[in-house]
Amino acid sequence: MGILSTKTIAQVSMLAACSIANAGTLPQAKGLDAFVEKQRTISLQGVLNNIGPDGSLVPGAGAGVIVASPSTVNPNYFYTWSRDAALTMKMIVDEFMLGKKQLKSYIEDYIHAQAVLQTVTNPSGTFLPSGLGLGEPKYNVDLTRFNGAWGRPQRDGPALRAIALITYSKWLISNGQKQKAKTVVWPIISNDLSYVGQYWNSTGFDLWEEVQGSSFFATQNQFRSLVEGGALAKTLGVQCTGCDQAPQVACFLNEAYWNGQYFVANINSNDGRTGKDANTVLGSISAFDLNAKCDDASIQPCNSRALSNFKAFVDPFRDSTAYPINKGIPKSQGIALGRYTEDVYYNGGLWYLITAAAAEYLYDAVAQWEIQGSLTIDKTSLAFFQDIYPAAKAKTYTPKGKNAEFPLILKAVTNYAESFVTVLQKYIPADGSMTEQFNRTSPFNPTSAANLTWSYAAFISMAERRAKQYPPSWISGKQSTTLPKTCSTGATKGVYAPATAAGAPNITTSCTSNVRFEVNATTYYGENILVAGNTTDLGSWDINNAWPLDASGYTAERPLWSATVALTAGQAINYAYVRTEDCSQAPIWESATANRTLVIPPCDPNADPDAVILVTNDAWTGPTGTSGGC
Ligand SMILES: *[C@@H]1O[C@H](CO)[C@@H](O)[C@H](O)[C@H]1NC(C)=O
Ligand SMILES: *[C@@H]1O[C@H](CO)[C@@H](O)[C@H](O)[C@H]1NC(C)=O
Ligand SMILES: *[C@@H]1O[C@H](CO)[C@@H](O)[C@H](O)[C@H]1NC(C)=O
Ligand SMILES: *[C@@H]1O[C@H](CO)[C@@H](O)[C@H](O)[C@H]1NC(C)=O
Ligand SMILES: *[C@@H]1O[C@H](CO)[C@@H](O)[C@H](O)[C@H]1NC(C)=O
Ligand SMILES: *[C@@H]1O[C@H](CO)[C@@H](O)[C@H](O)[C@H]1NC(C)=O
Ligand SMILES: *[C@@H]1O[C@H](CO)[C@@H](O)[C@H](O)[C@H]1NC(C)=O
Repeated sequence: MGILSTKTIAQVSMLAACSIANAGTLPQAKGLDAFVEKQRTISLQGVLNNIGPDGSLVPGAGAGVIVASPSTVNPNYFYTWSRDAALTMKMIVDEFMLGKKQLKSYIEDYIHAQAVLQTVTNPSGTFLPSGLGLGEPKYNVDLTRFNGAWGRPQRDGPALRAIALITYSKWLISNGQKQKAKTVVWPIISNDLSYVGQYWNSTGFDLWEEVQGSSFFATQNQFRSLVEGGALAKTLGVQCTGCDQAPQVACFLNEAYWNGQYFVANINSNDGRTGKDANTVLGSISAFDLNAKCDDASIQPCNSRALSNFKAFVDPFRDSTAYPINKGIPKSQGIALGRYTEDVYYNGGLWYLITAAAAEYLYDAVAQWEIQGSLTIDKTSLAFFQDIYPAAKAKTYTPKGKNAEFPLILKAVTNYAESFVTVLQKYIPADGSMTEQFNRTSPFNPTSAANLTWSYAAFISMAERRAKQYPPSWISGKQSTTLPKTCSTGATKGVYAPATAAGAPNITTSCTSNVRFEVNATTYYGENILVAGNTTDLGSWDINNAWPLDASGYTAERPLWSATVALTAGQAINYAYVRTEDCSQAPIWESATANRTLVIPPCDPNADPDAVILVTNDAWTGPTGTSGGC
């Protein structure tokens, strides 16, 4: 199984610590140790402040709901994202297993919240019968659906949630609670793995929510979830539907993204970028297994191609014209990193979580070479090593022999990791608060969302690796999988059921009905029409949570705006249309006299889940907009 108890984690850490005892003291090490220790404490508190129901910065968030950031304007991140929440929960589970027992209630609350969330009908679809709703990227903090326009679906969320819950299940099993792992937690994991097995070979939006295609980060985490989930299912004596897809996911991961120099972050898309993107570095730290081989199909941090990719991703940020913040820093030193160099969001700033991830990645790789007691440099990884250890050659290094270079190379990589932490030390404000980004130009001010949960979580997992604290292994045998000779497409039809033992409502397939809203509304270019209503299904009159209509049927003869929405069956609703304007003008609501009501018929268990059962025939009532054209 490869389950490591906390005891084993400690043993491994000691072993690893011994083998670099002669790595020398770093010039800045003392100040850096104190900084990391302090910032780690602040970061954990920063995470907990953003988790409901008691988080001090997120009033209104439900129990176990991990809010992305308390920021409600510029940008509004006061939502819970499946991805950010799961990555944060993985960190919390790891910290719990490393001894922070007070975190248990956060894990238990998360389990309950996610069981409920899985069943929530949303714009990506319903949970039953086909799991489509699991691909929804974000929800309101009271666990109701978010209806606004968004890049959806995103297919990494279920995989990441499964990974966090699998890790906790392993702890339960090694602590005499196998039955709980099986009856309470597994049903949630099973739904997520079903989703992965069914949809890994379909496109979706990437982790930055911009590109529709196939994302390396998603594929890599999907692969891990299926392998680790398959092993857990065996231990629990249950069936994993979808896990049979793992070898094909690995084949896709290894064959499709690599271009000879780096992993192209987004494929099956047409985004006009180089594809050098933090996506791929974040992927490898999620897949990290201390005991994995460097050529494992999961593409570990010590993998030659991953090292070449690391350099290819980092180097463009060394351009000091575009990134004055990185001016004058030699190639052997870490720099401030953003998502990808074509980025324009908040002026394409630098991200704390990515700069931390670069350090974590390098600590991971060093730990793997230490455990293996050898390091093979090949022509793919040579350029990475030569930047930080100019004498590097393509050969295998071991600690044996009097003048062994092995410890020197590991020291060079460790120093490189430390230098990324030094960048964090420089740009994290003295009070330890971490936004999402910091500015590439002087005065390099923090920017975008304040107190970003993921920034704090990323700092902590980096600090764990720096302290030689490692999460449990997830690869049970010598290799995670054997790659098929040829890659093929694939999908296993999932089995979905509400995780009732964890608190999910016992919903049945047919409790929503598809309603098609059609309204004739003449609009100016730049205006949009949305439908809002008095139920959570329609955003409870909150314009941020109203459902956007689409104008693809708009003609000179008929100014049609429309959308099909799955609504809870058997309820009466009150709804209205609203038009949003460009040029920051206020939105315009329909007149109250429109007073629109609808009665959604009760559940019909035999109805086709895709059938539209009601179509409105409405015409906009009330003031029209003015053309902006700003
Ligand atoms: C599906 O898998 C095949 C085989 O690996 C691959 O060529 C194709 O690009 C994949 N498509 C998507 C959308 O994942
Ligand atoms: C970055 O700094 C420049 C120069 O001070 C400033 O004009 C710009 O608004 C800042 N951008 C962000 C996103 O903070
Ligand atoms: C982050 O949260 C703390 C409270 O924990 C607050 O003092 C600080 O102002 C917040 N940071 C930002 C940038 O808003
Ligand atoms: C859920 O509902 C189904 C169908 O109504 C029923 O068979 C099942 O026993 C219920 N499960 C629970 C845990 O209540
Ligand atoms: C919404 O409005 C309808 C029609 O007026 C009403 O029957 C229903 O109770 C309302 N729902 C809520 C949640 O207020
Ligand atoms: C809307 O219509 C309902 C009946 O369909 C009526 O009871 C209600 O008073 C009306 N509301 C307004 C604001 O006109
Ligand atoms: C909307 O426009 C179509 C086409 O002109 C027309 O048939 C329909 O009656 C209109 N609906 C309303 C409510 O005015």
